[in-house]
Amino acid sequence: MSSRPSAVPSAARSDEVVRTLDLVAAVAQEFGDRSRGLADAYQELSDLYRTGGATPGDARLTREHVHAYLVARMPATLAVGRAVFGAVAARRPEWGPATLLDLGAGPGTATWAAAEVFPSLTAVTCVEQATAMIDAGRQLARRSASSAVRDAQWHRTSVAEPPEVRADLVVASFVLGELPDAAIADVVARWWRATLGELVVIEPGTPAGFGRLRRVRDLLIGEGATITAPCPSDAACPMAGDDWCHFAARVARSGVHRAVKGGELGFEDEKFAYISASRQPPAHAAARVLRAPQVRSGHIRLTVCEAPDKREAVVARSQKDAFRWARKAHWGDEVPPGALRGRRKED
Ligand SMILES: C[S@@+](CC[C@H](N)C(=O)[O-])C[C@H]1O[C@@H](n2cnc3c(N)ncnc32)[C@H](O)[C@@H]1O
Repeated sequence: MSSRPSAVPSAARSDEVVRTLDLVAAVAQEFGDRSRGLADAYQELSDLYRTGGATPGDARLTREHVHAYLVARMPATLAVGRAVFGAVAARRPEWGPATLLDLGAGPGTATWAAAEVFPSLTAVTCVEQATAMIDAGRQLARRSASSAVRDAQWHRTSVAEPPEVRADLVVASFVLGELPDAAIADVVARWWRATLGELVVIEPGTPAGFGRLRRVRDLLIGEGATITAPCPSDAACPMAGDDWCHFAARVARSGVHRAVKGGELGFEDEKFAYISASRQPPAHAAARVLRAPQVRSGHIRLTVCEAPDKREAVVARSQKDAFRWARKAHWGDEVPPGALRGRRKED
């Protein structure tokens, strides 16, 4: 796995804007970079998803809608996928999945991210209900450097009844929230049966997205899974009250991206929540940073999840190694073993 990126971004970093050039470049080459009409298409697409999304073969989802998704949403979901797979790879440096099942694949965003982080992939199955998304995904895949992406098998069907495929890595990126709440337990049990190694579920970094993931986490631990990331243990999640576990990925915005969304900034921070549930032996981090660290004179304050609870930690300049790490730590990073030993500041 020598070609795995050494430092995959796990959180928003002002000094390290996440570049999503490969797939973004493929979109520009295949679809052009004009923005006329795409802002309206993006609004219509948002409305369509708000009212239940496109159904299999749905003619309401046009090529314009898909183009708007590719320009205005896909760069963010791609950046999130890279960050999440990077966090999994960091916990399992020896693991090289050969097969991938991408559920609710859209244009194959998570597939591209997985192929970048896990060049070991040799076979990919994408499940997607919308014909226009599949067409775009196939078209873009031709431009991938990965033969696994280029040769992906696309299935136009529901993620609730995926094909009888089992894969080392199964991912459901930004699709769980489109399923009826009542269906989630059965659907996730099915996804877990399809999983040989890791099941990665990604949701928006909102209280609702986290709430769904917390439920999925409980279900999967009940099935015998261990959580590879982000959790530092399989104990009950310590998030309480109106707090929720989420992270952020910084995304560069192209000119057309800005035009479609009507924004001025050259970047955006995409908030996300995720879990990676595993059939492999536990590989928990010692702890994980849950907020942007606060640098003060002489010390750094960190909010961390460290089993069995969430807590505030203070790293003083006098704690030389820990301070050196904390100065460079970002929201979402793992905490190295022992870094927080000795100083404990409770909430
Ligand atoms: C928000 S998009 C996410 C696409 C991609 N996974 C990503 O991260 O960019 C959700 C996708 O899931 C698809 N989808 C929603 N419900 C589905 C279902 N029941 N079966 C198959 N696909 C579904 C939608 O058509 C859409 O392409």
